[in-house]
Order: sequence, then C-alpha cells, then structure tokens
Amino acid sequence: LMAEKGGYRHFMLKEIHEQPRAVRDTIAGRLLENEGDVYLEDLKFSDQQLAAVRRIVIVACGTSWHAALVGKFYIEGYCRIPVEIDIASEFRYRNPVIDGTTLVMVISQSGETADTLAALREAKSRGAMNMAICNVLDSSIAREAAGVIYTHAGPEIGVASTKAFVTQLTALYLFTIRLGRAVRAIDVPAGQSMIASLKKVPALLEEALKLNADTERIARKYMNARDFLYLGRGKNFPIALEGALKLKEISYIHAEGYPAGEMKHGPIALIDEEMPVVMLVPENSAFEKTLSNMEEVIARNGRVIALCSEGDQEVKGRAEDTIEIPRIDEDLDPFLLSVPLQLLAYHIAVLKGTDVDQPRNLAKSVTVE
Ligand code: G6P
Repeated sequence: LMAEKGGYRHFMLKEIHEQPRAVRDTIAGRLLENEGDVYLEDLKFSDQQLAAVRRIVIVACGTSWHAALVGKFYIEGYCRIPVEIDIASEFRYRNPVIDGTTLVMVISQSGETADTLAALREAKSRGAMNMAICNVLDSSIAREAAGVIYTHAGPEIGVASTKAFVTQLTALYLFTIRLGRAVRAIDVPAGQSMIASLKKVPALLEEALKLNADTERIARKYMNARDFLYLGRGKNFPIALEGALKLKEISYIHAEGYPAGEMKHGPIALIDEEMPVVMLVPENSAFEKTLSNMEEVIARNGRVIALCSEGDQEVKGRAEDTIEIPRIDEDLDPFLLSVPLQLLAYHIAVLKGTDVDQPRNLAKSVTVE
C-alpha cells in the first residue's frame, strides 16, 4: 500500500506533491504561444459561438465550487462578460434565468456528482450553451456536456480534493484566454503574457512544496485550537474558503472562510487570544487593505498566521507566524496559496490522528441528490 502511495504516508500527501506535474499535464499541448491563444481540443465552440455568449453561469459543489469563484475573477476581469456562480443543489431548484445566450459551465472532478449532473441537464433543457471542466474521462458529466475541458490531474483518491483543484484553476485560466481571444477582449501580446505567467506555475508550486516543514511546525503549534478563521480578499477569498474547507474535512476543527473586509460585520466578535486567523496577504492590489484587516485582528489579540509574498517585511514584523509564498503575477497567487493551506490541514489532521484519506461522513463523489 505504501508503494501505491508513492512512498507517502497518505494519498492526500502524495496528491499534494503531484500538483506541479498535474498542472504541467493540464497545460501540455494546449498553448499556442505565437498566437497568444490556447487550443482546447474538446471544447468545440467556434469563435462566433463564443462571441454570442452574453452571460456565463458556473455551477459546482464543494471544492469545485471554490474553483468556480476564482474563475469568475479571471473571466470577468479579462473578458468583461458577466459571470454568476451557483451551488448545484441551489441552481436547479430556483428556476434559473438562462437562455440560448447563456453559457452554463459545470465543474466536477468526478463528473458524477448528482446535483451537478442534474444542473447540467437543467441547463440543457433550457437551451443554454453548455460545457464542463472535468477530471474523469468519459464520466457522465463529460459525456453529456456539449464541450469539455479535461483537467489532467490523474486519479484523485484522497477524499479531500487537492490536485484536482489546482488543475481546475488551470483549466479556468486556459478557458479565459480562449474566450478572451474569441471575443477580442485579449489581444495577442496580452494572451502571450498570460501564457508566460501560467507557464511559471508548475516550478513555483514545486517551490511552495518546500514549505512543508514550516507548515508542520505551525500545525503542531495550533492543532488544539477549537476554531480557525481564514481571511482573504478578491480572488484569494475563495482560497480562504477552500483552506477552511480542507481543515474542516480532515481535522474536524471548525473553520470559516470570510472576505477580509467583511470581518468587521460579524466574525470580529469571535476573535480572542485563542483564535488562529489565517490571513492571505500576498503583495497585490489589495495588500494595504488586507494588512489593515490583519492589524484589526492583532489589536484584538488574535493569533495571525500570515501567508505573504517571499521577502515581505511588513507582514513578517507583525504576524505571529508567517509562511512566505513565491512571487508570481497576482492573478495566479491562488495556485500558490493553496499549497500551504492544504499542508496545514494535512498536518493538523495527522497530528490529531484522523483518517486523512477517508474522513468520517464524507464521500469522494456524492451521487445522491
Ligand atoms: C464531495 C467531495 C469533495 C468535492 C465535491 C464535489 O463533497 O468530498 O472533495 O469537492 O464532492 O465533487 P466533484 O467530483 O463534483 O468535483
């Protein structure tokens, strides 16, 4: 069994370490560097069809839903087409407003999640354009969607999704380039620079994996906390949600993700000297604002674990613990922030002695509605 796990103690740890490879495989063969465009072999929409899209609705569950929330920033930011995100089990029961100019995208690692499959069928029955981002070849969702972008994460065994998530982010970024080129929101040089940024991700994920020892030390220090708060802004807010979800899933510690600027409207009441607050504060356009949110936590004696950019001194001088992530175009910070958050949850779970790969009450793929 150790061999099956590639020498790692758990599938989850193996899969965390496979992320550089998984992202590389998801990019491989798809970059058209001269054209500043990408080739998505199973997407099959013409530029004219994509140019007719007025609105995009992305529907998913769990970790895939968090990827969708990041995707909204990519697509709206670059393509200027409105994007809505919905949870699959909500979407199908609310008589959604969709027509032939709506593109409904479902995201599912397994391709078998019952609510997500039902959402896809609902979209199709209303005549929406439709597509899927999917990891499992020939799964129900992949077969039924009009277009597919396969992620090439490889089989994911650990119930808590890790490598599938970063490949979903990769697929969303690739889709953004393709759509942006098709609707002429992204020109050749802009497409080329997005490709250049994306190509840096696998090597920087490898760098981020070196944070394993640091993360384990921090895990040991905070493993007995009863609650955790995860705060981030913009495209890192979904990463805060995902970090909190990872911790809940495998360590059974209560954790909440919140937009950092919204903390003052509720969660700030929870902060005391016992409360670890994981702050996602890389150097980006929201840096100063997020830093002042961090100060608000410190002023209430909260214990800040800050994920900041490599070499950042401002954060380092103030947070109780820091984890420095490699620098990259800020759009791609979500990839690099994900790694230490996965490792933090993993190490806390191992220290608590839970069943990391098969956490209680959870299933890898939920095929009931
Ligand atoms: C289950 C899994 C999660 C996963 C979610 C959606 O809850 O435990 O890890 O994110 O289903 O799964 P899907 O296969 O549709 O991405």
